[in-house]
Amino acid sequence: MPRLDRCCIVLAGHGAPPVFDACSSLGAIFPRCQDRHRAVGWPSMAKQAQATWGGRFSAGPAGLMQRFSESVSFDHRLAPFDLAGSKAHSAMLAKVGLITQRERDAIHRGLDAIGREIAAGKFKWRPELEDVHMNIEQALTRRVPAAAKLHTARSRNDQVATDMRLYFKAACADLIARLTAAQRAILQIADRNRDVLIPGYTHLQRAQPVYLAHHLFAWLEMLARDAGRFATVADHANWCPLGSGAIAGTTLPIDREFTAKALGFVDAAGRPRVTRNSMGAVSDRDIHLEFAVACALTGVHFSCIAEDLILWATQEFKFIALPDAFCTGSSLMPQKKNPDALELLRGKAARLQGNLHTLLALVKGLPLTYNRDLQEDKPPVFDSHDQTGLCLQVLAGTVAGLEVNRAGCAHAVADPLLLATDLADYLVRKGVPFRTAHHAVGAVVKLAEQNNVLLDQLPFEAVSRLHPAFGPDWIESFDLAKAMARRQGTGMPGPAQVARQFRRWRKLLG
Ligand code: ARG
Repeated sequence: MPRLDRCCIVLAGHGAPPVFDACSSLGAIFPRCQDRHRAVGWPSMAKQAQATWGGRFSAGPAGLMQRFSESVSFDHRLAPFDLAGSKAHSAMLAKVGLITQRERDAIHRGLDAIGREIAAGKFKWRPELEDVHMNIEQALTRRVPAAAKLHTARSRNDQVATDMRLYFKAACADLIARLTAAQRAILQIADRNRDVLIPGYTHLQRAQPVYLAHHLFAWLEMLARDAGRFATVADHANWCPLGSGAIAGTTLPIDREFTAKALGFVDAAGRPRVTRNSMGAVSDRDIHLEFAVACALTGVHFSCIAEDLILWATQEFKFIALPDAFCTGSSLMPQKKNPDALELLRGKAARLQGNLHTLLALVKGLPLTYNRDLQEDKPPVFDSHDQTGLCLQVLAGTVAGLEVNRAGCAHAVADPLLLATDLADYLVRKGVPFRTAHHAVGAVVKLAEQNNVLLDQLPFEAVSRLHPAFGPDWIESFDLAKAMARRQGTGMPGPAQVARQFRRWRKLLG
């Protein structure tokens, strides 16, 4: 697959139709697209003043300045939200009498037509018009004279804040759906291998036996927490900033609650949710940060899962075989099957953390309210969204295709050392204080090591010399099935609890 340039990546939305052919309309920002861009050409110095804000200027911005300040190369993906915002805003303007019903209808028809063109990839994005908002507004004004009234009581500052909040609600829903898909793939593997036991590890040393399903359920819990975080971000985004204007609202008699309702910024009871401070509403980027945190933490989780799988697939572990479809070979060593997809998942997690840091650095120390720095808030957010979505898909695909090596797992979990703690618990049940029991079992382990035999191969006489509470039934501690059955408490890996979690997850993931 060819490497994608950034302008092409932003087109690879999640299920949404490509918004436009960035390559055909943007300048030399993306080296690989340079030739095509050159053919389109950038105005070296705009002849006319900028139509939306140029009234007080006698010359347009330099070509370099236009290239430097444009954001349409990335914010074009806000188009569906920008169109929705403009429809709601114009409906509100008509409702309060600032425009006529006919003007509203003409604006709506124009916006719908632009939406169709964008969806079909036919809309001509003009970088000299800076951003998605001005591109759409000017295209509309060319077709519908009444569009000159659309920006009444609105600034790009509250417009972009509204677009982003609508975007975050959609992005969170998208990632929650992808998390759920990855969870379903994990649950399926757990289900197919419900009787498989493996060693659990601490310090990457064998610790205690667990059902493979129990280990996989820990992953499900991580991803469920991630989904919960995205739901919280969506809820925090669910406040409508429209009507905050540039910084201090408007003198015109607008109805903010109407617009909020029209855009779905409502609480559970359907009451409109409207931001409470115009200055905060146009400058606050907390939600960008919260979204980036949620993505970065999801990255931490899928990198942990990836690392577990990489280890399990090694010759040393032999717990699983990874699907060919998500592995690559070596150009030199014919025998190699490398877990590249999983390694990339680890690597992408770093990128998600980087995006979070970019945003933190961007907003730190900015004075109220809107500053142009904030235009840079979008690329890291979009990248985190795209990469997190992609990673979750790759995770789901890798997990769905893996095969569990039952023999390898059974061999590893047969190590009686995994039940050394159970042997200590045996002594505890005979009334021995745990510290003493721990010490006594330590001596048993040492004896087995010295004699180079497995723990459960020691003769009872030798064991009984190490503590008087050891009886001939000491050996039953190594009965794996019985040992597992004793782990009965909530959240433990015993069979009854695992069955309970299967029921819970099946219900949750349906
Ligand atoms: N493209 C701008 C951004 O994303 C929109 C807001 C512009 N506001 C302004 N005062 N220049 O930040």
